[in-house]
Amino acid sequence: MGKVALITGCSSGFGLLAAVEMARAGFDVAATMRNLEKRALLDAAAKEAGVGLDVRRLDVTEFDSLPGFLQQLVRDRGSLDVLVNNAGMAVSGFAEDMLLAEIRRQFETNFFGHVAMTKAALPIMRKQRSGHIIMISSISGLVAQPAISSYSSSKHALEGWSEALRLETHSLGIRVVLVEPGAYATDIWEKNVVLGERVNTPESPNYERIQRFVQFVQKEVPKRDPHEVAQLIVRIAQDPNPRLRYIAGTDAHMGYWTKRFLPWKMWEKMIARYTKIG
Ligand SMILES: NC(=O)c1ccc[n+]([C@@H]2O[C@H](COP(=O)([O-])OP(=O)(O)OC[C@H]3O[C@@H](n4cnc5c(N)ncnc54)[C@H](OP(=O)(O)O)[C@@H]3O)[C@@H](O)[C@H]2O)c1
Repeated sequence: MGKVALITGCSSGFGLLAAVEMARAGFDVAATMRNLEKRALLDAAAKEAGVGLDVRRLDVTEFDSLPGFLQQLVRDRGSLDVLVNNAGMAVSGFAEDMLLAEIRRQFETNFFGHVAMTKAALPIMRKQRSGHIIMISSISGLVAQPAISSYSSSKHALEGWSEALRLETHSLGIRVVLVEPGAYATDIWEKNVVLGERVNTPESPNYERIQRFVQFVQKEVPKRDPHEVAQLIVRIAQDPNPRLRYIAGTDAHMGYWTKRFLPWKMWEKMIARYTKIG
């Protein structure tokens, strides 16, 4: 058997594609999703690729169940060599309109979900003295964007936590890696879009601006082929000494370097004009 990889959020997008690509590369893949009724697409993709997957139900916000889930996986499959923390969602809306409960929900999945999965995996990997923990962060974890302050801050928190964790665990043989994609064509932009409850109502003082922003995101932001990220995840999982960070996509590289080198005043003018929120 190949090395055992567990991926969260495999009902669509990067998780689904990475599950199939990793199985094709010889990993023994546990592909997890919170709602098994959504497994048809994954099953069809695995069948087309001629690979088998161990599909299991897992909601990363059911924190108490995660250690038991991973221990059971290790009993069944022998080890846990790669954890891909991919499950995520994005709540959009101007900060002024976001409810605290919505911001908390964003953090529960994108930050605490990854943290709780990782904490459950660490004792297993420490005992093995090996393991890769791959965090699917976002370029928004390095470059904050307007109208997604909740999402950007959840990914910034993940960046900081993971950077510190990398330093703590490297000498134990554990490799913590952050993947920071730009815009890729997955369900996060369309079917799984979440707008804050007060965001898209005429009562919001930002109503006009959010309309313009949503139109800009849907029509003017080019989205790349998500297979690129799935293949990058495979390469990282196969590399015994991966880097801490992998920025994915030319848009992400451009955003990162432009923000780093432009004076802040020019950057904020440019973003306001580009995203049409000014
Ligand atoms: N696509 C992009 O442009 C982009 C860019 C940067 C970063 N990312 C990151 O990439 C990751 C994957 O997103 P995607 O683009 O592939 O979007 P996606 O197609 O919407 O996939 C998100 C996946 O996460 C799952 N999920 C959400 N909450 C969960 C929970 N509590 N427990 C378990 N699974 C849960 C979803 O399951 P359900 O089907 O049940 O909702 C779905 O399988 C996310 O962390 C996202 O922030 C995406």
